[in-house]
Amino acid sequence: MEHKYIEIKGLSKIFTRKKESVHALENIDFSVDRGELVCILGPSGCGKSTLLRAICGLDTEHSGDVFIDGRKVIKPEKTRGMVFQEHRLFPWLTVEENVAFALNGVDKDTKAELVQQHIDLVGLTGFEKSYPRQLSGGMAQRAGIARALVNDPELLLLDEPFGALDTFTKMAMQKELKQIRKKSNTTMIMVTHDIDEAVFLADRIIVMSPRPGSIVKVIDVDLAEPRDRNSYEFLEIRKEVFNEF
Ligand SMILES: Nc1ncnc2c1ncn2[C@@H]1O[C@H](COP(=O)(O)OP(=O)(O)OP(=O)(O)O)[C@@H](O)[C@H]1O
Ligand SMILES: [Mg+2]
Repeated sequence: MEHKYIEIKGLSKIFTRKKESVHALENIDFSVDRGELVCILGPSGCGKSTLLRAICGLDTEHSGDVFIDGRKVIKPEKTRGMVFQEHRLFPWLTVEENVAFALNGVDKDTKAELVQQHIDLVGLTGFEKSYPRQLSGGMAQRAGIARALVNDPELLLLDEPFGALDTFTKMAMQKELKQIRKKSNTTMIMVTHDIDEAVFLADRIIVMSPRPGSIVKVIDVDLAEPRDRNSYEFLEIRKEVFNEF
């Protein structure tokens, strides 16, 4: 049977601890085409990170299924990169060691070259030997992005990757992400709180309700590139998304 690249079918998640339970996700259904960039937008605590973890295969205790390329997701794989909400770098490794950490199967020279290339890409040139504690929050987050990209993932899952960045760095990183995507055709699913960011980046925006998170609206962002954040069309879509909150 014909299938979409990513299919999420009836995904529900309840966290239980002792007698307490939190209903995080309720019957999430959507699919993503190869090469698409989908933004997931929703209020804090509605289950966005939980949803990304399920797609990545980091958490498989839920009802419903996630299929990638027709195969059920049962564990994390190298072909799926994840940028976490907090950078999660190893504090005892330098930037270059962190980026190199999960990169296997290439010779030493290629490894060094790929690591440097990705450090440059996220604008951390000169900080190769720095430890995470010597970086600003935004720089650490960029190192996390380099680490996810260095494996050339087929699918990149991004959990509010630019949340800690100032407006200008954030806009630069958003443009960079578009460039990366253009070059690599990586499929991306990105969680964000930022409506402008979603309208600027996404092919499609999925709006979630407060917990238990369910999909309340799917908005196609049919804007030509390069997108102008001040154009009438941009602001119209922005308004359409805004009205959901
Ligand atoms: N490991 C866990 N154990 C128990 N409850 C959890 C766990 N992880 C998440 N939750 C609960 O599930 C709900 C959804 O959490 P999640 O982190 O997915 O939200 P979110 O949409 O990513 O929020 P934010 O925008 O603040 O990052 C929250 O109520 C949270 O308390
Ligand atoms: Mg989250």
